[in-house]
Amino acid sequence: MSRFYITTPIYYVNDAPHIGHAYPTVTADAIARWHRLLGDETMFVTGTDEHGLKIQRAAEANGITPLEQADRTSQRFRDAWTLLDISNDQFIRTTEQRHHRSVQELLTRAKDNGYIEKGSYAGHYCVACEAYYNDDDLIDGSDCPIHERPVEWLEEENYFFKLTALESELLDWLNGPHVFPEGKRNEALGIVKLGLEDVSMTRTSIDWGVPVPWDDDHVFYVWYDALINYATAVGFGTDEDEFNQWWPEVHHIIGKDILRFHCVYWPAMLIAAGLEPPKEVHVSGFLLLGGKKLSKTGLTQIAPADLVEDFGVDGYRYHFLRDVSFGPDSEFSYEQMVARYNSDLANTLGNLLSRVTTVVQKKCDGIGPAPDVDSALGKVAADSYAAAAEAWDRFQAPVAMEATWQLIREANAYLERHEPWKMEQGSPEVQRVMGDALEVLRWAAIMAGPALTRASEAIWAAIGLDGSPTDERLPEAAAWGRYPGGLTVTKSAPLFPRLKAE
Ligand code: MSP
Repeated sequence: MSRFYITTPIYYVNDAPHIGHAYPTVTADAIARWHRLLGDETMFVTGTDEHGLKIQRAAEANGITPLEQADRTSQRFRDAWTLLDISNDQFIRTTEQRHHRSVQELLTRAKDNGYIEKGSYAGHYCVACEAYYNDDDLIDGSDCPIHERPVEWLEEENYFFKLTALESELLDWLNGPHVFPEGKRNEALGIVKLGLEDVSMTRTSIDWGVPVPWDDDHVFYVWYDALINYATAVGFGTDEDEFNQWWPEVHHIIGKDILRFHCVYWPAMLIAAGLEPPKEVHVSGFLLLGGKKLSKTGLTQIAPADLVEDFGVDGYRYHFLRDVSFGPDSEFSYEQMVARYNSDLANTLGNLLSRVTTVVQKKCDGIGPAPDVDSALGKVAADSYAAAAEAWDRFQAPVAMEATWQLIREANAYLERHEPWKMEQGSPEVQRVMGDALEVLRWAAIMAGPALTRASEAIWAAIGLDGSPTDERLPEAAAWGRYPGGLTVTKSAPLFPRLKAE
């Protein structure tokens, strides 16, 4: 059996989840669901990043301890993911004991291998990024390039990670098929080629972090702690056998702002500890609002719940999977979301289900006929499947969705051509056309399932099938002609009532 391991970034707990966090999470969820359909043993991990100065300051501002801050906000992320039907197998928190053990173990190995040394450091620090910047990086010599707010001058004696010693190993890794899309791989290569510097990896200025096991005065800098969550989750530091079953076949989903950490520091840390670098890193652009990154530090927050209220869970998930392609930035638009919902969900899939169930009631006594094994739609189904499978494999949800909808649209056109509603009740013609349409619905319930967690179950039940489309296994279940016929078809309330643009 093959295994599939996928991760999202772990989210900072200084503030509430917004749709910019939900985007990588929904994408990872859909891909994990696809792999479960393929029969892979799947591990999908998300979680929260709970240490560091940013969290300590947020806690101070709220008059609570850092752990209280982390408990509260981490719960808000879990609630948001429950709301969006996120099917993560684990939710990791960096304050867990198992994670402390894993961080200490991994970085002790890196030190024993000669990659961590003591030194001193001074520089411009952005607390929101938890990162140092060079003079050249700053806007007007004073502001963080991401947050457009003043940086602080920080001086510390601490331990350094000897990134410079790993340049050729990093270039080897970056020259392989590991970072996607290609443009982001080039960006990471550019960072290495521009010249690496050793990086400061511990702090003495705060104590909200994982203690450095060989020096009590230090805690690990939040990023070095956070990245290791991906190893902790599959047993590093607690169950080495388990870890070796999953590692290094991991697929990381990240945003472009954290490319340097995932495509330079993280592979280097793993190599320094004598471990394999990750198999794949997939880098997305930002969701923008009015041209700016939706961010916790700005005023442009939209919570997933705000949109779920209007579009439902399926409408929410579908929009982000269908309309935001991985790589470029994408302007969020409520109007586009309404348009997408109406065209693909209300008018195409919802309409197909309602037409089919109505005609089966009227013309087939409510009993669904079996499809024609030689139907022309069978060829479209095979092509749609092949295109969708390839796209999922490349983490291109919009392409996979478009390929899936190709057959659904074709089925509506097929009904319009044949007009079964005008056919004689119980005739062989009406039986054939309706059998084919029911088969498309069966197929669509499986294939759209990674996006439409709810509608896929509703369609499955409406066409009289038992169990759940998530119990089906691909590719067999996508083969044309498996709707058995003879099942009771039920007419239900519209799946996706049409929306008016507000
Ligand atoms: N805690 C670090 C990640 C550590 S991973 C070992 C972090 N957290 S974050 O909460 O600030 O952001 C997490 C992810 O959400 C990042 O990949 C970031 O790109 C993504 N997004 C946050 N806002 C976003 C948008 N507006 N659009 C798309 N993704 C964005 O960074």
